[in-house]
Amino acid sequence: MEGHGRFTKIGKSYSLGVIGLGEGKGLIKGLYGHPELKVLAVCDVNEALINKVKSDYDVPHGYTDLALLIAREDIDIVAIYTPDQLHLEHIQACFRAGKHVICTKPLVNSLGEARKLMQLTADYPETKLMVGQSSRFFGPMQEQRRAVEADKLGPISFMETQYVHDMRWFYGNRPWAMEGGFDLLFACCSHPVDLIKWYMGEVEEVFAYASQSLVAEQANFQGDDTFVINLKFASGRIGRVLGFYGLEQPHQNRPWIEVAAYGTKGTFIAKYPQLEAIVKYEGEHERIESYFEDIYHYFQFEGVNHHAGEFVNYAEYFTKCLTYGTVAMPDAADGFTTIATLEAIRESIRQGLPVKVERI
Ligand SMILES: NC(=O)c1ccc[n+]([C@@H]2O[C@H](COP(=O)([O-])OP(=O)(O)OC[C@H]3O[C@@H](n4cnc5c(N)ncnc54)[C@H](O)[C@@H]3O)[C@@H](O)[C@H]2O)c1
Repeated sequence: MEGHGRFTKIGKSYSLGVIGLGEGKGLIKGLYGHPELKVLAVCDVNEALINKVKSDYDVPHGYTDLALLIAREDIDIVAIYTPDQLHLEHIQACFRAGKHVICTKPLVNSLGEARKLMQLTADYPETKLMVGQSSRFFGPMQEQRRAVEADKLGPISFMETQYVHDMRWFYGNRPWAMEGGFDLLFACCSHPVDLIKWYMGEVEEVFAYASQSLVAEQANFQGDDTFVINLKFASGRIGRVLGFYGLEQPHQNRPWIEVAAYGTKGTFIAKYPQLEAIVKYEGEHERIESYFEDIYHYFQFEGVNHHAGEFVNYAEYFTKCLTYGTVAMPDAADGFTTIATLEAIRESIRQGLPVKVERI
């Protein structure tokens, strides 16, 4: 599906570098033609990919070494889409070179790395980081957020978030997912864990089960890919996260990412990739809101599997925050709490017991 994006005004121009040209292509394609945000340079260890991206999207510079990209004075921001295990190393290099960073999820790969990241952000207070939690930036999720902030749901009593996606394409095609240090819990449950925290706040304790699906076993994937996670928040409320990656995917009706918020005055269930929401406010009829026209913004190439519109949305949001001096969320501290929650989930699975989440 070839689509077309839409851009909003930032108020200032920025030059970006992008490292990692798998998912990174989504941002480059999405920003192509943006009047204020220009991808000036790309980096990947695969030179053929660099040349293709340069020619497809008129990117002037390409490097196989990040050091050369960040040595450029004309790059303001680096967007990182390298394998999960490399994020910390690449964030550190960018911060030391004075570049602001958008880092895709998972921000880092362990609590130990998250602690190092917090030290880094303390050492470089002028350099800003936003976690590219793309699922916050889909139309239905943004609409849901506006509804909560406008108090249309009332206080939220309970939330469920899920990310359910057939990952066979990934199991067989990403050598780094077969390597040590990779954990599908961090790679994928970072989406629903971030989404539930966005509303329910700090997580105090988790209790989780995990197993390996039969699909993962057939694909010779090492590790669990089925996660049922219960969470208790500092507020005393509870919530539930489902992560399941070994299934035959129903595309039409069943969402991959679903965010269900149950408030005292309303319920709002946001869905991706359907770009739809089920909304029921007190005293009103239930309705389904469709954001179908957005399909051309979000899914600009290779169907719904690739990301573009939501990456553009977060790049615009981050640069507006830089321009106006506000904090772009999720920032490093918010990212830390997601990683700390994921680490507690990993530990709960290992121990078979509830585990407290480390505070910042
Ligand atoms: N919704 C989302 O935001 C979303 C979706 C998918 C993937 N991701 C994340 O994006 C990252 C990349 O995933 P992917 O599916 O694109 O993987 P991928 O393997 O397709 O792409 C990674 C790219 O990084 C390059 N690379 C590896 N080491 C490098 C190095 N040292 N320097 C420069 N380039 C290097 C590889 O050559 C490859 O082109 C992961 O962290 C993943 O979790 C995010």
